[in-house]
Amino acid sequence: MASPPFSSTVTTTVAAASLAAVVLMLLGQEAEAARAFFVFGDSLVDNGNNNYLVTTARADRPPYGIDYPTHRPTGRFSNGLNIADLISEQIGSEPTLPYLSPELNGEKLLVGATFASAGVGVLNDTGFQFLNTIRIYRQFELFEQYQTRLAGLIGDDEARRRVNEGLYLIVLGGNDFVNNYFLPYSARPRQLSLSDFANLVISEYRKILLRLYELGARRVLVTGTGPLGCVPSELAMGSRNGECVPNAQQAASIFNPMLDQTVQGLNSELGSDVFVASNTRLTTSDFIRNPQSFGFVTSKIACCGQGPYNGLGLCNALSSLCPDRGVYAFWDAFHPTERANRMIVQQMMTGSTAYMSPMNLSTILAVDSMI
Ligand SMILES: *[C@@H]1O[C@H](CO)[C@@H](O)[C@H](O)[C@H]1NC(C)=O
Ligand SMILES: *[C@@H]1O[C@H](CO)[C@@H](O)[C@H](O)[C@H]1NC(C)=O
Repeated sequence: MASPPFSSTVTTTVAAASLAAVVLMLLGQEAEAARAFFVFGDSLVDNGNNNYLVTTARADRPPYGIDYPTHRPTGRFSNGLNIADLISEQIGSEPTLPYLSPELNGEKLLVGATFASAGVGVLNDTGFQFLNTIRIYRQFELFEQYQTRLAGLIGDDEARRRVNEGLYLIVLGGNDFVNNYFLPYSARPRQLSLSDFANLVISEYRKILLRLYELGARRVLVTGTGPLGCVPSELAMGSRNGECVPNAQQAASIFNPMLDQTVQGLNSELGSDVFVASNTRLTTSDFIRNPQSFGFVTSKIACCGQGPYNGLGLCNALSSLCPDRGVYAFWDAFHPTERANRMIVQQMMTGSTAYMSPMNLSTILAVDSMI
């Protein structure tokens, strides 16, 4: 007779293995539904991580979130959905949870996660005034932690596959200018000319993108900065007649083409179109130059804020608030409304190579689904 303990161990192991297979199958069905989505960067895509931090860069009070499905603030810097939410919509996925959310557990891990934190930039010293934020290299450490947790759920190989086949979004750079170089008390302009500073930001951004590749990313949307000189905050501080502020505009027009080149260079080094540059400056410029033809009454005045152009400080309960968020391009001093975000994501989906290079998101989704 075979020893009962041995055979029962075998039975248990077999049972455990087939249970694991069933779990994998069930998880697999959901996993097939949509690829995982991973989001890194700043307040344009933070969806609540900063709610868990001791920081002044937060959007967890009304009227933030006034048009979100729950009509409550979530930590998103918008009246409703942000760019990342709208990309989730396009790939047929539920919105990612912020990595720091206690709800991000079990099967929710399969959806992906958002590591973004409002206030951060490419450079480590950008946004120090907001105190405790998750700087980009820390976002990457949390992503490694995420991968370990995912492997605990579905095994190493499957986790690796999900990470490699995921869609990635990284949004950085704006804060390095508006919340670093152009701050009234910044020492940077005395140390570096604007173009030398932009060069520094780009060379650090390149390292960041390579690190993301090392961590397993194979399809990454990289956004440039918007037209920085036209945001209500810049208008409030530096515009006399409502014209966009020249030096901040110049920053965006130096930085964005450099980023395009960097992305092209990286792709040819890697021998694959891993990185896709999204020219959000162009999309945003379209409706800033010509708001009426996009259905906006203004692209200069923020819906929620105070001071000239509603551009001083962030939106809060005492701010003046516009009644119809659908006709404003900017929600607060820095961030677009949901409606403007929808236009940006629409260009990401279907834009020509002037907007998305080397290809748009609908092409990416079609190509990747054939692999
Ligand atoms: C920024 O911080 C990371 C991690 O702490 C470090 O590896 C990197 O070298 C720093 N970058 C610069 C330019 O100091
Ligand atoms: C972008 O997407 C549309 C489909 O929506 C497609 O017809 C077009 O060719 C794409 N453009 C590029 C440059 O990939």
